[in-house]
Amino acid sequence: MPFAPPPLEDELGDILDKAMRHAGLTEDQLAATTGIDAGRIKDAEDYRYDFTCTELQKLAIALGLNEVGVCALGEGKYPLPALPPLPFALHTIALPYGIGRVNAFVLENVATRATLLVDTVDCPERLLAAWPAGIAWPELVLLTHWDHDHAGGLPGVLRRCGGLPVVAPAARPLVGAVAVGEGDERVAGGFRIRVLRTPGHAAEHNAYYVTAAAGPAGAAGVLFSGDLIFAGSLGGAFYCCHTLRHEVRRVMDALPPETVIAPGHGPLTTIANERRFNPFLG
Ligand SMILES: [Fe+2]
Repeated sequence: MPFAPPPLEDELGDILDKAMRHAGLTEDQLAATTGIDAGRIKDAEDYRYDFTCTELQKLAIALGLNEVGVCALGEGKYPLPALPPLPFALHTIALPYGIGRVNAFVLENVATRATLLVDTVDCPERLLAAWPAGIAWPELVLLTHWDHDHAGGLPGVLRRCGGLPVVAPAARPLVGAVAVGEGDERVAGGFRIRVLRTPGHAAEHNAYYVTAAAGPAGAAGVLFSGDLIFAGSLGGAFYCCHTLRHEVRRVMDALPPETVIAPGHGPLTTIANERRFNPFLG
């Protein structure tokens, strides 16, 4: 059976909702700019839409979005890339959360079997039940941010695995989490971890760029982006949309295009793919 990627985190209605918030526009104001009935825009935010390609282009232009990506989303055909080979194994644990799904990731050094865990989802029992068979418990936990869907499982993971070091964008002494920020580097389990401080979704949010510490030259790395960027969208800007969009562009420009993006929600993608198609980029 052919592999079917998980669904995108956001549909067209979510994109319009987020972009209107970023631009400070109401449905009526967007309707006046585009000539599209405000009721149809509101319907789209409720996931009912029948826009033509021309209308999608008008919406994209009015909201300063990438027309190609908006049209692809509107047609239900957002492209996902073939992923480059990685010098380590990347296991995705995607579990239901609310009406969507949330991701944790296990990185495995196939030579030493050492692993890292990125985020813990909300529930340790569900995380550990979904743990890949035969894979060692992690040497280090990386947290992108402290929202419950990404970090709620941490205390239970620590109880199960015991004494694990944890790095996060803000310290939490009760669970032994150490704060790391922009420019920090760690080497653990044969992985090199570069910390990027990426506020926007939350005031305290990190992304982690992970490569093999002794891998082949030029091998692709993985950006664990948390709720900074998803395939086809951005995270919700609960702290500041301007900061979020600045940080997305900065990170996309700082890393190689073949970098795999492992987001907190939705399928894997690459920096090259998102620079070309993401509605909020390009
Ligand atoms: Fe999230």
